Amino acid sequence: MNPKIAPSILAADFAQLGDEVEAVLASGADLIHFDVMDNHFVPNLTVGPTVLAALRKRFPDVEFDVHLMVDPVERLVDEFLDVGASMISVHPETCQDVGEVLDRIESGGAKVGAVLNPETSESVLASYWDQLNYVLVMSVKPGFGGQSFMPEVLPKLARIRDSIRRDERDIDIEIDGGISRSTIGAAAQAGAEIFVAGSAIFNSDDYASTIAELRALAA
Ligand code: DX5
Ligand code: ZN
Repeated sequence: MNPKIAPSILAADFAQLGDEVEAVLASGADLIHFDVMDNHFVPNLTVGPTVLAALRKRFPDVEFDVHLMVDPVERLVDEFLDVGASMISVHPETCQDVGEVLDRIESGGAKVGAVLNPETSESVLASYWDQLNYVLVMSVKPGFGGQSFMPEVLPKLARIRDSIRRDERDIDIEIDGGISRSTIGAAAQAGAEIFVAGSAIFNSDDYASTIAELRALAA
């Protein structure tokens, strides 16, 4: 397995966001996780397409992984495609027509993701497996960084891994929430390949050694 580490900018110092992104990239981050919250689908408010546009301009080749926690989601999918999102994941419950939204992401040229809240069964994705490039499994309730990892999502993660293997699909599994030195191993063992980490990385003194350690623990 070749684990990918995706620092979540939610835990970065927003007063120097560009420099924070540069620092984690220089420290070995594989992609940048960009959390978009709307104070409606989740009780928090973060950043929108203008901020991604600025980061895209400064980092033309970086993979930006946009996690949309907004309802309704359709118009923002278009806006994030316009400013160069590389991956976009949506919560099915925010889509009027899930298949249509996933199609839109694909035709806009980004990788297509669906997000499962901790309590949401993978069965909601039954009709969409053909359209997905990745599944994002939430291991905390979406809305805030710094929460504790919920180990009860691990059996679901393993079931998703098993069904992807059985059907020989090319779909990555990403995990988001409470990923740290003490939780990343279990998530990897259950089948995660892309690991979002906000506070574990940005609250550490040495981004490079934290990312290297997380990567080693996942491998
Ligand atoms: C939570 C967000 C996460 C969050 C992770 O709703 O989707 O991406 O930033 O933060 P940590 O790693 O601190 O749990
Ligand atoms: Zn996220």
